[in-house]
Amino acid sequence: SVFENPQTASINVAQRIANLIKKKQAINATAVLGLATGATPIGVYAELIRMHKEDGLSFKNVVTFNLDEYYPMQPNAVQSYVRFMNEHLFDHIDIDKNNVHVPDGTIKLEEIPAFCLAYEKKISDFGGLDIQILGIGRTGHIGFNEPGSAPNSGTRLVTLDDLTRRDAARDFGGKSFVPTKAITMGIGTIFKAREIILMAWNRKKASIIKKAVEGEISGEVPATYLQLSENVEFILDAPAASDL
Ligand code: GLP
Repeated sequence: SVFENPQTASINVAQRIANLIKKKQAINATAVLGLATGATPIGVYAELIRMHKEDGLSFKNVVTFNLDEYYPMQPNAVQSYVRFMNEHLFDHIDIDKNNVHVPDGTIKLEEIPAFCLAYEKKISDFGGLDIQILGIGRTGHIGFNEPGSAPNSGTRLVTLDDLTRRDAARDFGGKSFVPTKAITMGIGTIFKAREIILMAWNRKKASIIKKAVEGEISGEVPATYLQLSENVEFILDAPAASDL
């Protein structure tokens, strides 16, 4: 769907998340959310915080799994996705921090494979992701699944694309300070979510959105794999949809 602006689009996505949470509360069940970082979802988180503060929406029955984290990364670092999530959402709602999961950027290299398997297992132990929200990078990455990612890939350590590191340079004070690696859920992990919402705002995203939605399905643009799923919805503002 195409919305006039990111605000109305973000409110729409936040309402769907809130509806899921309330539906689960009514049957004493857990809502399992797959969350994303970057500028794109900030408005969704702001609206969820507003719903918590003004409408009494509770997150006590919510479990979250974030898509990715840089590697290596200390959780208290300015660029850390742990810190991002705390500042933009978790610190402002009544979620139990034990229910929050972000890939751990501090573990030893040799422990990563076991960590990634455990991350996948935890998601399935909670019954799988009810909703996964996504942004999109200019390489066509979702999470940090860069060009070359396999459609059945799981959570793993990946090497960041040069363009991704250039785009992150501002956050790190120069490209050379951007980590070369990240831990990310795989395309296969994302695909298992019962509902996938990819959001994009801004003219800057128009060409990659065109490729993702209309382009040939290929590992060269990992987001094109989303065309294969029936549970995917693209939520765009008019500028991001302008090449479609
Ligand atoms: C990073 C994140 C992605 C995000 C992308 C786009 O690479 N790992 O999950 O989708 O940036 O970021 P933004 O939303 O700031 O455009």
